[in-house]
Order: sequence, then C-alpha cells, then structure tokens
Amino acid sequence: MRILITGVCGFVGHALACELKKALSQVELFGLDNFIRPGSEMNRTNLKAIGVKIYHADIRSAADLETLPNVDWVIDAAANPSVLAGVDGKTSSRQLIDHNLSGTLNILEYCKRIQAGFILLSTSRVYSIPSIANLEVEVVQDAYQPVASQIFATGISTAGVSEAYSTQSPVSLYGATKIASEVMALEYGATFGLPVWVNRCGVLAGAGQFGRPDQGIFAYWIHSWKQQRPLTYIGFDGLGHQVRDCLHPQDLARMLLLQLKAYHDSSKPPIVNLAGGIEASMSLRQLSKWCSDRFGKQSVATESQDRPFDIPWMVLDSSVAKQAWGWQPERSLLSVLDEIAEHADQNNAWLDISAPY
Ligand SMILES: NC(=O)c1ccc[n+]([C@@H]2O[C@H](COP(=O)([O-])OP(=O)(O)OC[C@H]3O[C@@H](n4cnc5c(N)ncnc54)[C@H](O)[C@@H]3O)[C@@H](O)[C@H]2O)c1
Repeated sequence: MRILITGVCGFVGHALACELKKALSQVELFGLDNFIRPGSEMNRTNLKAIGVKIYHADIRSAADLETLPNVDWVIDAAANPSVLAGVDGKTSSRQLIDHNLSGTLNILEYCKRIQAGFILLSTSRVYSIPSIANLEVEVVQDAYQPVASQIFATGISTAGVSEAYSTQSPVSLYGATKIASEVMALEYGATFGLPVWVNRCGVLAGAGQFGRPDQGIFAYWIHSWKQQRPLTYIGFDGLGHQVRDCLHPQDLARMLLLQLKAYHDSSKPPIVNLAGGIEASMSLRQLSKWCSDRFGKQSVATESQDRPFDIPWMVLDSSVAKQAWGWQPERSLLSVLDEIAEHADQNNAWLDISAPY
C-alpha cells in the first residue's frame, strides 16, 4: 500500500507516519509539508530515517501537487489547526481559508486524478458553539461538568457531544473551514467513487507536540510549567475550570488502520468522533495540580475576559466509533501526561521552538 500524509512533519502527521510504518510492513510512505509550523523541520530527519519520502510542497498550490507520486490513500494532516486562526491578528481569514479549505480542494483534485482514497482529520470545532457555550455547568472537583438534569440539545449528553449534534454556524472560522472540507470530501467520494473517511478529533496530545496557548494546550501547559513560564487561566472567571478531553495519536492511528483496511465499506459511518471522552478529560485547574505534583508549585495568573469561541466544556462522545468499528482509546489520560512530562524533562527549552516569547 502507498500512502501520502500531508503535513507529515507536524505533530500528528509525524506520529501517524511512525505508527503506520510500525503496523504495515509493506507500506510505502510519502509525506509533504511546507514547514510553516515552527518546529516541523525537526521531524524531517526521523521521518527520512524510517523511510518516508518527503516532498517540500504547499497544498495551497495545485502546481506543487502535480509531481507527487501515485498513491492508494491520502491522509490529510496539513492545516492551520488553531481555533483562533484568522482572528488572532497573526493570520488572516483569507490565509486560513487558503490553507484549510482551498488546500483540501487541491488534495481532493489530486485524489480524483489518481483515484486515491482520502482520510480527513477534522475537529470537534465543527460543532455549533451556542448550545455548548450556554450549557448549564457546575463545578465538581475543580472542573466544570454539565448539570445532568438540564434539557440538552440533541446530540449532547453528560457523555459528551456526539455526531448527532448540530454543525450550524457559528462554529468559528477554523471550524467552518473543516466542515466545508468534510462536505467537499464526502461529495468527491460520492461523485468520483473514492473511499472517504472523516474523523472528527478532539484535542490530540502527546510528546513532541508543538504546543501553543491556542493549540496543543496539554503540551503547552506541561512544558510551560516545567520551564517556569507564566501561565494564565483565561475566561470563565479566570478560575481554570474549563474542561477538554485528550487523545493520543497512537489511538487515532489504530482507527486509521481499520479504515485503510476496510477501504470502502458503506455499512460504516463515513463521519466519526474520535476522542478520549469523559475518562480522559480534565480541567486546566486539575492539570495545574498534576503539574504541581510533578514539577513543583507555580502560580497561575487569572484573566476573566472571555476569548472568542471559548467554551467551558468540550468532551466528545465516540460511541459511534465504538459501535461501528469496535474502536476505543487505549491510552489513559495519565499516560499521555506522563509522556509529555518526560519529553519536557528531556527537552528543556521545547517551547522556545513552538511558542517563543
Ligand atoms: N492537534 C489537535 O489537537 C487536533 C485536533 C483536531 C484536529 N486536528 C487536525 O489534525 C491535523 C494535524 O494537526 P497537528 O496538531 O499535527 O498540527 P501541526 O501544526 O503540528 O501540523 C500541521 C503540519 O501541516 C503543515 N502545513 C500547514 N499548512 C500547510 C500547507 N498549506 N501545505 C503543506 N503543509 C502545511 C505544517 O507545517 C505542519 O507541519 C490538522 O488538520 C488539524 O486540524 C488536530
């Protein structure tokens, strides 16, 4: 099998390449990256060492894709993955759309030309913000949790947000580029007979992630704590009760292996949530406690002003993936945190690469 991973030198692309290489003895792996993410260049050597052929290419440029080899599958892991992209004053909305939507369309045209299957890494950010932002929550052991007795919007429960929940705007510009990419991917699949799988991932976390405050929060928080960098609880009264779940890319790779093997199986849902779920969720305040036990005490500043698109609680319910594929995460939250902390022990100035002052 021949597979191309876009964004192969990013956190997820690199991790997936390593896992696929381990699991598929006959695989020929190709990757492309434009190295826009600070730190991505560091993964090139390791990928070459395990036999991945790397192309310096930009998915925004259709011409860059003309010389790529024929493959059986494309896994699309190239994107600007920040929910604040396009509104953070650092990237424009046009740039976000060029990377995340026009880029997907170029890749889909490439898949059409060579008749390759397509796997999109989408996000929990495709889900409509208002009903999640307005959830009735209570604080239990320093973390928000939804009040069980409230009337939930369809698709939301105390187990998380499922695929049945609305993707109605507003979802953030980032979320909009992803939902538009999902629609186009499925349409290309249906029209041109290509196998297409869409995986809506919750927060992904693990060693080697290029964390920033707006993306890769678990890695950012742990590395910041280790490097004694100032940290701030932003929004929600500045108390750090906001909750996210986390998934290790190894668990994502296990699902991709099932999807690659199934090829095109209309009995399986084309869109699934993949996330750590309730068991692998925690608040920032709980994460601070964990960091304090691991690295020693540090104070965290508070800023009560909410940011755009902030939500108090985002946990994805992956029960559709479990029922349809028998998939569930194997890596525990604590094992992921430990892995990141060990990486922080070994890489003292890691954040200077991904999140310089
Ligand atoms: N990390 C998460 O928590 C998370 C959660 C849900 C979905 N995702 C999705 O997973 C994918 C990978 O995310 P990640 O965390 O590895 O991000 P990352 O920033 O670490 O990796 C993205 C890689 O893509 C490259 N890239 C960006 N724009 C490109 C372009 N136009 N052409 C070629 N290469 C380009 C970057 O240089 C980088 O190496 C993204 O599509 C993201 O939306 C990530």
